[in-house]
Amino acid sequence: MINRERLKTLHKIEEERFLTRTPKSRERFNQAKKVMPGGVPMSWMTKWPGAYPVFVASANGAHFVDLDGNKYIDLCLGDTGSMTGHSPEPTVAAISAQMKLGMTAMLPTEDAVKVSEELARRFGLPLWQFTVSATDANRHVIRYSRLITGRQKIIVIDRCYHGSVDESFATLDSNGKTISREGNIGAPVPLDMTTIVVEFNDLSGMESALKSGEVAAILMEPAMTNVGIVLPDDGYLIKVGELARKYGALWIIDETHTISVGPGGMTRALNLKPDFLTIGKAIGGGIPVGTFGMTSEIASAIADKVEREVVDTGGIGGTLAGNALSLAAMRATLTEVLTENNFKKMIDLGNRWCDGVESVIKETGLGWHVNRLGARGEYMFQPNAPRTGREAANAGDFELEQYIHLRMLNDGFLLTPFHNMALISPYTSAEDVDAHTVAFRALCNQLVN
Ligand SMILES: Cc1ncc(COP(=O)(O)O)c(C=O)c1O
Repeated sequence: MINRERLKTLHKIEEERFLTRTPKSRERFNQAKKVMPGGVPMSWMTKWPGAYPVFVASANGAHFVDLDGNKYIDLCLGDTGSMTGHSPEPTVAAISAQMKLGMTAMLPTEDAVKVSEELARRFGLPLWQFTVSATDANRHVIRYSRLITGRQKIIVIDRCYHGSVDESFATLDSNGKTISREGNIGAPVPLDMTTIVVEFNDLSGMESALKSGEVAAILMEPAMTNVGIVLPDDGYLIKVGELARKYGALWIIDETHTISVGPGGMTRALNLKPDFLTIGKAIGGGIPVGTFGMTSEIASAIADKVEREVVDTGGIGGTLAGNALSLAAMRATLTEVLTENNFKKMIDLGNRWCDGVESVIKETGLGWHVNRLGARGEYMFQPNAPRTGREAANAGDFELEQYIHLRMLNDGFLLTPFHNMALISPYTSAEDVDAHTVAFRALCNQLVN
């Protein structure tokens, strides 16, 4: 029902509007291109809509201001890195204090104990280790899983994302064979040597992959969030855990994004019992962090196999992992920002955002679907909820998405650059959410008329 010629015209209008609104960002970008490939510090930033990314002058709470003084309501929030809101006061106070007391010494601080206790309370796993990113946490638990089981392969879900983890850039071809994913750069070995890909919500696929006896671990998000949101069928996750145990594979749950459902993520909400749990991003309040939790059995199995003399050359750890600054940030963020009370507020507003978007979709007859995941919401260009990553990927529409993102940006809203997802922070207000609904209504009306 969307006229593609008209969409092109509308997009052109927004491209012009973007150039008019952002001359200072353009000037910086032209300078940046001389010293950074693509004019950006990290390659994905070329994916932002418009001729160049807007440069941030300052960010605070749920908002940021660009170099030209344009104000934005931030619904991307650093793709969850700032789900706490930008520079939350308790985190800023904790890291400011820690900065005067030393930032990294490769020795533990008291915060390491406090943070581990808090993570254990939230997620139900007793023992914790720290990294600098969620990616590292995932890489480390994969290595440990191979060490413990003596097996080679990792099961991942089709269209998953777990950071730049070699084993995870795989997909299924039309014959159900595991192959390298499109765009995968410099894979060390063919993907079917390290990985078996299974569809989300497919228990028989999971069981046949496990039956091979080659599987060290299943690495998965409890709800997919990186191809749009795909929710688990009732009972699916519990069954995955049972299957892992039956076939001697370890179960790794990555809560990096799904913590949007509450303080203990989906693991606590659904009383899941993984062997390992990984998380990063939001729990540092904007400071780089990552961590993984494990059961006592796993910790003993590792201790039995890792010699003290070679503990630093086994491929686990990092010089700045567990540094004092990151731990101070996590302590304050977990205990004072990502609290039960704040989650309640964030989830209420997440639902308000979804209600607003849903009502506009209904009014305009666009026939899109809205997925909810606590403080996270997303619309997808198909009428029903997807059950697999493939189905969600097939609902993608790059041209339409590019237009929506640019138009919303020009109207003062930042969405994630990857799909149509919005995230709510403790600082986001009902006014912010309602302003989005108004802008989204105007956009959709223009698309269908
Ligand atoms: C589920 C999940 N796990 C891990 C990561 C990796 O996080 P980082 O890039 O901070 O290492 C991401 C990043 O988007 C993610 O979505």
